[in-house]
Amino acid sequence: MSPMSPTPAEPSPSRTAAVIPAAGRGVRLGPGTPKALRALGGTPMLIHAVRAMAASRAVTLVVVVAPPDGAPEVKNLIDGHALPEHTDYVVVPGGATRQESVKLGLDALPDDVSVVLVHDAARPLVPVDTVDAVIEAVRDGAPAVVPALPLADTVKEVEPGEPGAPEPVLSTPVRARLRAVQTPQGFDRHTLVKAHTSVAVDGEGATDDAGMVEQLGSQVVVVPGHEEAFKVTRPLDLVLAEAVLARRRANDGF
Ligand code: C5P
Repeated sequence: MSPMSPTPAEPSPSRTAAVIPAAGRGVRLGPGTPKALRALGGTPMLIHAVRAMAASRAVTLVVVVAPPDGAPEVKNLIDGHALPEHTDYVVVPGGATRQESVKLGLDALPDDVSVVLVHDAARPLVPVDTVDAVIEAVRDGAPAVVPALPLADTVKEVEPGEPGAPEPVLSTPVRARLRAVQTPQGFDRHTLVKAHTSVAVDGEGATDDAGMVEQLGSQVVVVPGHEEAFKVTRPLDLVLAEAVLARRRANDGF
């Protein structure tokens, strides 16, 4: 702009950032390397998750929340893998619970970020179309958006007892009204920060950021999730993830 022309009052550009909590140990996957650092197709799960977020043109910053004592190691790891040019990243140390780790990630966001995704490192294969659909719904005005799928199984609410002992059934929710939620969950930044500031960490803390927004009384909406956005939790999930990667490689040289 020439020094003569008046400076228009430009609205500050809105940026989208993704926070990836990756500070968990992943004990259900068995002993060994922390879950986020386990290899899938030869590449750590966390790198797949970072790339899945960076695959969206809208995401210009990824905040990775590392194990409390592992931030330098995680930064080295990401430094060693290529990301698209439009994506910056920072690594911050996490906390004792997922809820605390997400809060620490939010604290690291620069002022110009107005849309925040929270994505589990344990969902390395979410397709970019799902990421973009979540961002679009937030940009269209929803304060909180979760991708989710209908359930294949019928679900029972039970009175939990000793492991392996019969548990009394309390109710059977109507399956057609249930959804299994995935990540990335998308938020208007102000709404998510308010939830993390006002909902106290109770026990193991919240496992679902959208649930915290619900506690504030704000509307959360669901958009269609994707079967490849499944969470790698148990050893069998690793087998499935390897198969999905192999299929992608065969189909498009991914
Ligand atoms: O254990 P779970 O699979 O529910 O963890 C979900 C996500 O939260 C994982 O990506 C895990 O690394 C992360 N997490 C975290 N800080 C913790 C516990 C879990 O960032 N203290």
